[in-house]
Amino acid sequence: MAGTVLVLGSYNQDHAWSADDLPAPGATRLGSYTSGPGGKGFNQAVAAARAGARTGFVTALGEDAAAATARALAAADGIVLHAEVHGSLPSGTAGIFVDAAGRNVIVVAPGANAALTPGFVAALDPAFAGADVFLAQLEVSPEAVHEGLRRARAANALAILNPAPANAFTTEALLRQADVLTPNETEFAALLQRHRGLACDADTLAAQDDAALHALCRELAPWATVVVTLGASGVFVSHPGEALRGDATGAYRLRPEAVHAVDTTGAGDAFSGALAAALAAGADAAFADAVRFANRFAALSTERRGAALAMPRRAEVEERFGPA
Ligand code: RIB
Ligand code: NA
Repeated sequence: MAGTVLVLGSYNQDHAWSADDLPAPGATRLGSYTSGPGGKGFNQAVAAARAGARTGFVTALGEDAAAATARALAAADGIVLHAEVHGSLPSGTAGIFVDAAGRNVIVVAPGANAALTPGFVAALDPAFAGADVFLAQLEVSPEAVHEGLRRARAANALAILNPAPANAFTTEALLRQADVLTPNETEFAALLQRHRGLACDADTLAAQDDAALHALCRELAPWATVVVTLGASGVFVSHPGEALRGDATGAYRLRPEAVHAVDTTGAGDAFSGALAAALAAGADAAFADAVRFANRFAALSTERRGAALAMPRRAEVEERFGPA
């Protein structure tokens, strides 16, 4: 049974260059170029839709070619678009550099995304009322994200915050609106540093055992389920004691899926979008089943170049890895 997911976030036109390795400052490489749709918000919306959810997408656009592309692509994936238009601003853009191992570095110019207003979000009550799961990230204005999370909780939707990118502005009050947090290891380290004064880096976190990670998750967000994506170290899930969400244990880890990654751009978005769709569809199922599906969905997305258009479909994930 399909559930309904409402995603709030950025749309970016991605400009992506691939080279054998990433140049150090001052260096030049010859490589290849493609352009396509991206933005953490749109990537997550496409992932949720292709994972089988009825999906709405709240964003801000300019009045340019990228905005027209966004509208056409949302329609092509059956996504209901709620776009605040800022005619004086460009739509968001991202410059992405990918190496032969599929790793990337990204610079985002938010453009219209940064101007998304809480007022626009507040006027979308019917969309919030129909949502089983709400999902946001941090590439649009923080005030709009905060308003979205508050509306979602008021409408009894499960509120998921993917706290990306790592250097985005966050407040304690914002984090407290999230039922579920989905940081990667870099974002987890940044939140622990900023909100709890704990100095740690991504590599150290990825090397921690389950007991240590569970304690850090509880320290960061004692009210929330925290799902940390750790790359080669898998996915770690930590529930608050009183809310196991159908799982047998409060903390556990899933192994990474074996795939041949060519481009990891948007893999974190694939994970959060697919997790939202799976949780929306199976409110009574074990949380671990949704995490397993999201892990597989994200793994498959790395075998294709690009961001939003690299998202697989539910049927492809089941064909590759078996039924969820
Ligand atoms: O998470 C990947 C995304 O980050 C890219 O699509 C790019 O637009 C940036 O937002
Ligand atoms: Na990809």
